[in-house]
Parts: sequence; C-alpha cells; structure tokens
Amino acid sequence: MMRVAHFTDVHWMTPPSAWKAVSSKRILGTFNLYLKGRKKHFDLRAQRQVVAHTMALKPDVVLITGDLTALALPEEFEAAKADLLPLLESIPTLIIPGNHDLYTRGARDDRRCQRVFGEWMGLQDGPVGRLDVGEMTFLGLDPNRPTLLSSGIVPDDQLEALAKLLDSEELQARTVGLAIHYPLVGPSGRPYSNYGHGLLNVGDLVEVLSNSRKRPAFVVHGHKHEGYRGEVALEDGTKIPTFDPGSGGYGHEPEHHRTAAMNVYSVADGVVKDVERFLFNGQGFELEAGGAYATSV
Ligand SMILES: [Fe+2]
Ligand SMILES: [Fe+2]
Repeated sequence: MMRVAHFTDVHWMTPPSAWKAVSSKRILGTFNLYLKGRKKHFDLRAQRQVVAHTMALKPDVVLITGDLTALALPEEFEAAKADLLPLLESIPTLIIPGNHDLYTRGARDDRRCQRVFGEWMGLQDGPVGRLDVGEMTFLGLDPNRPTLLSSGIVPDDQLEALAKLLDSEELQARTVGLAIHYPLVGPSGRPYSNYGHGLLNVGDLVEVLSNSRKRPAFVVHGHKHEGYRGEVALEDGTKIPTFDPGSGGYGHEPEHHRTAAMNVYSVADGVVKDVERFLFNGQGFELEAGGAYATSV
C-alpha cells in the first residue's frame, strides 16, 4: 500500500513590486486578484498549514498539481519555495506547473518555474515529468501557455512522449499515476475542453490513454478550485478515476462553502483503494466528515 498526498492551486501571492514589469495580461490578473477580491479568498495560514499537514501525514510521495503562484512573479515563486522547502527536502515530490505559473511570456521565456522548482519537476528524460517511488511511477504534463484566456493545450511532443512511456516495457509492471493541472472531465462528467478555461485538446490526450498498453490508475488535477471526483472514459469503456481536492490555499469561509483542501490516495494492487480528503478548519487540516467529498465544500 502506498499513500500519495496531493494538493494544488495554493497560489502563493505577493503584490507586484514593480509596475514597469507588469504586462497587460498581468494587469488583468492583478485586477482580478486585487480589485475583484479573489485575493481575499486565499489565506497564508492555509497555505502554510497545507504544507505542515502534508508533512505530518508522512506520505510516501507528494504531488503538487500547479498554480503555485498567482502572477508567476519571481517573488511568488520564492515565497512558494520558502514555504515548501521543508517538505521538498523530506518527502519525494513531483511538481507540475499550472497556467498561473506560466502566466506571461516573460515567465515562460525565463523558465521561471523550472529555475526554482526544476529539481522536483522530473524533466531530466524529456518533456513529460517523471518520478518513480516504490512500485509507482508518476507522470506529469504541462499544457500551460501564456494566453489571455485560461485554456491549455497538451503539446504534441508531450503526447508523443507520454504514448511512448505508457507503451514501454519498463512501465508495464508498475502502477502509473498521471498529474496534470487541467481537468480531463468537469464536475458535470463531460470533457473539460471549454474555450475559456478548459483543456482544448482533451480528446487527443484521451486517445493516447485509450491506445496505450499501460493505463494510469488515476489522474490528479486542479485548476477548478472545486473539490470533485470524476471518471474519464477511454474508447474501450475503461474508466480512470480523476481527483481534484480543491484549492490548497483557500481561507476558511464556511458561509461560502469554501476552504482549503488536500487529498491522500491509498494505492495497492494497481488501483486507488481509498481516498481521504482533509479540509482546513481555520487552524489546521482535519479529515472531511462523512468521507471524501461528502460535504459541499
Ligand atoms: Fe488555480
Ligand atoms: Fe489554473
């Protein structure tokens, strides 16, 4: 049995320090964050507690599925790293970026996320992130791109590398978990490919999974800031469970059914046997009452 901890969309944020460095996209993002009030939904206590709680659980591995920052500012990456470092130094961790970590062309061209977190992104053998722990292999995709919209596309080189890995002899006897910032299916159960916020080529990714010898046992993602579980249906009818814990950085706002969350998956015999979901109660994280996804948070 392996215990796999997962959190996402913590969105460490610092105010933009120099307006000269602010692009039009970032002005829009800043407007959204600071003026429309999204910033107040995030709470530094939750952001730090999600790390402390994850460490206290002593999982075998940690998956962080992107949106570590809000505006992909260097200061935000540094703030995220300062809080994450004790965890990164003590538990095997795979980090994949989210759209907010490649928010601007500058952030992409500077490879800002890789420069800070490259050691934990598992990109040494190609464009698909990889981390092996025990009998499990975790693969991570990066469909993020700096556009005015928040949609993503898995690039062809990643689809090809993923297909090759899933067909490789060495992975056939292992259990594979797939990590991607974008959902493959939305809370409605339908493919999450909408123009403004979705993964535009989700069909291409499902085709790769459908044609592969080795199917992932589960998919973890974020991006929706909404806790839900789903199933992605492959062409032969096989269903792969998908999990989004919800944002790991939200403050405790029970009146709005909103608080930070993180998941732990117990994996054995190639399948997810159990899911525990932990919710932030204002001070720390506690097991969700009634079981994972039983409450409306
Ligand atoms: Fe996010
Ligand atoms: Fe996102």
